[in-house]
Amino acid sequence: VTTIEAIGASKTGQAVQKAWLDVDVMQCGYCQAGQVMAATALLNTTPKPTDKQIDTAMQGNACRCGTYVRIREAIKTAAGVDTKDSREV
Ligand code: FES
Repeated sequence: VTTIEAIGASKTGQAVQKAWLDVDVMQCGYCQAGQVMAATALLNTTPKPTDKQIDTAMQGNACRCGTYVRIREAIKTAAGVDTKDSREV
């Protein structure tokens, strides 16, 4: 079992944490531990996810601040894929 405290121990977890900071995803931070865990799990199984795959994988994590567009951009940044369309809804 991996918890949020240890997520940075993996290469994927580190990439997600860095992307979260680079894209400035967090607002209140309430949902972020779950978002980071779900994003890391997605990238572990799908290294280059499409927007649809990201949206499907992340749909169980609600964010009351509505940072979904930045979350998608951060996941794509962590995956090393083009983010030019990430801010389009
Ligand atoms: Fe506030 Fe997601 S950042 S609930």
